[in-house]
Amino acid sequence: MPLDAITYTRGSLSILNQLLLPHRTTYDPLHSSTDAWHAIHDMRVRGAPAIAIVAALSLAVELHTLIENKRLSDEAKEVEVFIKEKLSYLVSSRPTAVNLAEAAGRLGGVVGDLCKVEGATGKKVAEGYIVAAEKMLEDDVEDNRRIGGEGARWIREKAAKDGNGKVSVLTHCNTGSLATAGYGTALGVIRSLHAENVLERAYCTETRPYNQGSRLTAYELVHDNIPATLVTDNMAAALLAGKRGGACVDAIVVGADRVAANGDTANKIGTYGLAVLAKHHGVKFLVAAPWTTIDLNTKSGEDIVIEERPKHEVTRVKGPRVGEEGNGSAAMEMITVAADGIDVWNPAFDVTPAELIDGIITEVGVFEKDGSGIFHLER
Ligand code: MRU
Repeated sequence: MPLDAITYTRGSLSILNQLLLPHRTTYDPLHSSTDAWHAIHDMRVRGAPAIAIVAALSLAVELHTLIENKRLSDEAKEVEVFIKEKLSYLVSSRPTAVNLAEAAGRLGGVVGDLCKVEGATGKKVAEGYIVAAEKMLEDDVEDNRRIGGEGARWIREKAAKDGNGKVSVLTHCNTGSLATAGYGTALGVIRSLHAENVLERAYCTETRPYNQGSRLTAYELVHDNIPATLVTDNMAAALLAGKRGGACVDAIVVGADRVAANGDTANKIGTYGLAVLAKHHGVKFLVAAPWTTIDLNTKSGEDIVIEERPKHEVTRVKGPRVGEEGNGSAAMEMITVAADGIDVWNPAFDVTPAELIDGIITEVGVFEKDGSGIFHLER
């Protein structure tokens, strides 16, 4: 069972098709930014860091092909314009996660600087872009391991309720290897707790309607032999209330698609409800994300654009027939689970206000609010 969402060597990029997981392992090659735009828009690849990296690398592959085929302009300025246009196009694939826009801005800056260098050529600008995009893939795993370590330490010190030193953590959506270049953010925290032998149990929510929890997070937890239990989204309240034989949840850890300057956090739909539940039950609520997910240009959650997805993602589910799930070539069937003709609202994300968040775990440390309840992320 591979956990590599992205496979890349210079000139060649493939993504694990997450619409088919956990039933089928199929890698889709992406040859261009157009291929990547569709893979991101259709959610064959998803998760804020993964979509930024795939977008950046798809353009690296496109530029590599143009160089190899001697079809790239010699003019540095022309290549700069070409790259920036492609980056803007890629950013339009999904609006909420800031990582993609942040990466596009940063890579656009790299290209602008390369263009100003004495003797700049189209090829040199394109090669500089390729190196910078490849660096994103390398850095992400390292950042995630740091996030995992920081989060695990904070939870052990500040969230553990039981005297036995073990903790149980609930997570939502998928924030693991499949949503990043590897290891994961919130799921990376769970991996770190498990590696430190202090994880009693992980709970993952189903995460309707795309089922990132039951299909993807459950797949990763089984893969890593982490003690874990799946619950549907509407079971979280009963779980936090101790209705599972008194089992206790010490912390909820989720990822983020965009953290506004005041700490308000956009993440997978259902996150906000979990934060309200955590407050009611005195459970710590943490957001884990790389520094690049913090968007100081967005003042508060009010300013975050929330993507709305098609109706059929709520009214239909897809998978192999029961009994055929182990057969990698079994046909995938689509069934309807809603009354024909019903109106549907399908927001992909919600915003959790900063007041409900106890800490924001990043690779540079865990941010907490000051005595007046204010995060100082600008520091
Ligand atoms: O719609 P998705 O699956 O892209 O949403 C993913 C999430 O909401 C994740 O929690 C977030 O992107 C962080 S992934 C490390």
